[in-house]
Amino acid sequence: MKYLPLNPEIFIQNRKRFTEKMEKNAIAIFNSNDELPTNADQLHKFKQNSDLLWLSGIEQEDSMVILYPDNPDEKFREVLVLVRPNELKEKWDGHRLRISEATAISGIKTIVWLDSIEGMLQPWIHWAEIIYLNSNENDRKSNWVPVRDYRYAELMRQRFPLHQYRRSAKVMKELRSIKTALEIEVMQKAIDITENTFRSLMQFIKPGVMEYEIEAEIYRSFLSQRASGPAYGSIIASGDRARTLHYVENSRECKDGELILMDFGAEYGNYCADLTRTIPVNGKFGRRQKTVYNACLHLHHYAASILKPGISIIDYTKKVGEEATQVFLKIGLLRKSEVKNEDPENRAYAKYLYHGISHHLGIDVHDLGTRTEPVKAGMVFTIEPGIYIEEEQMGVRIENNFWITRNGNKDLMKNIPITVEEIEAYMKK
Ligand code: GLY
Ligand code: MN
Ligand code: MN
Repeated sequence: MKYLPLNPEIFIQNRKRFTEKMEKNAIAIFNSNDELPTNADQLHKFKQNSDLLWLSGIEQEDSMVILYPDNPDEKFREVLVLVRPNELKEKWDGHRLRISEATAISGIKTIVWLDSIEGMLQPWIHWAEIIYLNSNENDRKSNWVPVRDYRYAELMRQRFPLHQYRRSAKVMKELRSIKTALEIEVMQKAIDITENTFRSLMQFIKPGVMEYEIEAEIYRSFLSQRASGPAYGSIIASGDRARTLHYVENSRECKDGELILMDFGAEYGNYCADLTRTIPVNGKFGRRQKTVYNACLHLHHYAASILKPGISIIDYTKKVGEEATQVFLKIGLLRKSEVKNEDPENRAYAKYLYHGISHHLGIDVHDLGTRTEPVKAGMVFTIEPGIYIEEEQMGVRIENNFWITRNGNKDLMKNIPITVEEIEAYMKK
């Protein structure tokens, strides 16, 4: 890993939060993600299971976390399972964690090698009444790939058909959406790295630069600040490409007079930042560009003024939509008659703003959390309204990351230039 060691207290606290939610005499088992093959003999870059990371900070493949707070054998109330380091594997793939290293990262004192866990796990399961197993219950999940969590659940239910089972994911959704102060410290680091990178981009961008050169610059800047890399595929969309929400081709030349929308964020210590800024390629907004940009910034500020404890993301999105309607009337995108006759299922504003305004952010860019229940203090959300105008070949999005407080929210990106004046002044330097 490139990042500096994190405070293991992050994971100690997280495990405590999870075990406090467990029923009596229950055991919870968490697995690593699969290592995924490419076409020949290579593997995709390993992406650890987010719940296992949240509980332990362990990035290594083939790891498990087992929590059994009522285990009569006190030593095994929390267990980290790791592959036994072997010389051949290390010759090819490098160093694997030793016991003391794994304890230093996770705060878990009992480490068991994967090749010996089966025999130990069996009696623990016999003693326990309830088994918590994991599944991916992110509301945005949209695939049926039979990943390890689901295979493991099937296997366990075959082996132990008479136990009661619980879904860890239900607990995880509640807990992971509320960030501890220690987690916020790590997220702030990812955000600060992203800020530095954005500042360097404002000096780097000029007419003629290629979108992929900007993408490369982001990569360079992230890695040189100890980020693991981009938290998601950077979107570097100049001109009309900005209307494509997931434009990751990044292949075009950035032209004089165009805006460029850049949606990128660093991953640091496995936590994500998620920033979008839209800036003029030549350093100066045109008149219409400024009008549209300021309309988007107004929506951004409006959203920030209502995203606080009590509102649900669904109600909040509705309200931002109503404000967008007013704003779009003002800047000549909508006519009164279009609004009056709009289909309630397909609001007029949605022609120009066709995505959600906010999502949970954390270990995953689209992090676990509810959309239907009230927002709570401790959650982290993006706020990212956009305005996409086909007739004008233009797209603007402005995205910051907010930590919900008891009465409102805190903008974790408040130091990043956002107004027309701030951006123009910085690009002029
Ligand atoms: N870049 C992904 C998002 O903003 O949701
Ligand atoms: Mn984004
Ligand atoms: Mn986002």
